[in-house]
Amino acid sequence: MFPLPYQGHVNPMFQLANLLYSKGFSITIFHTNFNKPKTSNYPHFTFRFILDNDPHDERYANLPLQGMGAFSRIILFNKCGADQLRHQLELELSAKDEPPVSCLITDASWHFAQSVADCLNLPRLVLRTSSLFCFLIYASIPFLDDLGYFNLSDNTATPLLDGLGYNNVPDDKRLEEQVAEFPVLKVKDVIKIGFKKDNDGMGDIISNMVKQTKASSGIIWNSFKELEQLQLETIRRDIPAPCFLIPFAKHFTTASSSLLDQDRSFLPWLDQQPRNSIVYISFGSVAQVEEKHFVEMVHGLVDSKQSFLWVVRPGFVSGSTWLEPLPDGFPGERGRIVKWAPQQEVLGHEAIGAFWTHSGWNSTVESVCEGVPMICSPFWGDQPLDARYVSDVWKVGVYLENGWKREEITNAIRRVMADEEMREKSRGLKQKLDASLIEGGSSYESVESLVDYISSF
Ligand code: UDX
Repeated sequence: MFPLPYQGHVNPMFQLANLLYSKGFSITIFHTNFNKPKTSNYPHFTFRFILDNDPHDERYANLPLQGMGAFSRIILFNKCGADQLRHQLELELSAKDEPPVSCLITDASWHFAQSVADCLNLPRLVLRTSSLFCFLIYASIPFLDDLGYFNLSDNTATPLLDGLGYNNVPDDKRLEEQVAEFPVLKVKDVIKIGFKKDNDGMGDIISNMVKQTKASSGIIWNSFKELEQLQLETIRRDIPAPCFLIPFAKHFTTASSSLLDQDRSFLPWLDQQPRNSIVYISFGSVAQVEEKHFVEMVHGLVDSKQSFLWVVRPGFVSGSTWLEPLPDGFPGERGRIVKWAPQQEVLGHEAIGAFWTHSGWNSTVESVCEGVPMICSPFWGDQPLDARYVSDVWKVGVYLENGWKREEITNAIRRVMADEEMREKSRGLKQKLDASLIEGGSSYESVESLVDYISSF
């Protein structure tokens, strides 16, 4: 198994690895040295460190670690990783006294792995860590680009993406229009993806990811059928490879694959808080805000008068090491701030009443798994698409679609904490998910058929 070395990709791959191990498979993990997992948490797996073993390789030095630039590493590895991957796989395939290799499972964004696997006649399954609807929309990016969706006037589109300074966006009605080809989306959702068709950047990674996912022997998704039924039907119509939808958070936690230490010191405080009284706030592992937006968030939160638990990762506020921009006296008695939390455990805590999230897909599924309604502040990539589905399709959250404005933040927090109908919908979705895990349910059957499928190779 070969995860993409970022928290939002490492977590579901290790959850899948644990699941397959529990079904009797031996697991070998290929990983970069960059963002190395804690191997001591996985004495039952074999680890091989590949791709960036040469400490003198200057190509990998000084690449950004935060924000969208963090993914520049992926572009590089996809370009130059094939020989090393092939070499490592040949060693595994020829190893004596080891169980035979059934297949290679890689993150979908390691698109270069498909031709390597083909050369070795090894089936490659992909793990796609975002939603099915995101895949369909990503597959349409060249088409949407040709239709001009990414080419609003620079005055409109640039500030929209520039540090997510939505406050400066001129009043362009086109941003609010529906995308005719995907009526759930507004034009601004498509622009906020943050990349378009190109030949040498993220657009290239995405189009190759789509192409090589279609060419793979199977696709594993962190999702469940009842959540994305229509999208599943479309994908099954278009792609011959079988699909397996498994909500990983219901099988294993991500505690052992956490790249940062999870602070648990606030749990006694959380235990004392009333049911549904706390807003949990976290924006994932790579998103970054400007200081002025961070200050806006603080004011919105203070004005909401709600109690909160806030994960502020070091590096989250650009230009700061951690909490320097906070006003004196914040967070006070009403809140706690930590650098990193055991998120799944927190979301499952009865004191949590809402999740203010960046709408990363893992966070979204983890929230659905616990029936917690969301306040969505997406940054880029799949996140604006997830936020739109959470608010407009599943109706289990509110989308702060105009950026960081304190009044809107305050109103959204108050609304989600008080909205019983939304809480009921969130519980309903969780119940559907729980039912899918019981014998005969869709998620249960997906696990069984994945195990049978891999065993058949
Ligand atoms: C990225 C993308 O942003 C996301 O949209 C894509 O789907 C996967 O890759 P990330 O931004 O880190 O991931 O967000 P998310 O997908 O939500 O993953 C974050 C993971 O870190 C979750 O599993 C969450 O439980 C975990 N986490 C987060 C913690 O364990 N502790 C924390 O304090 C915060």
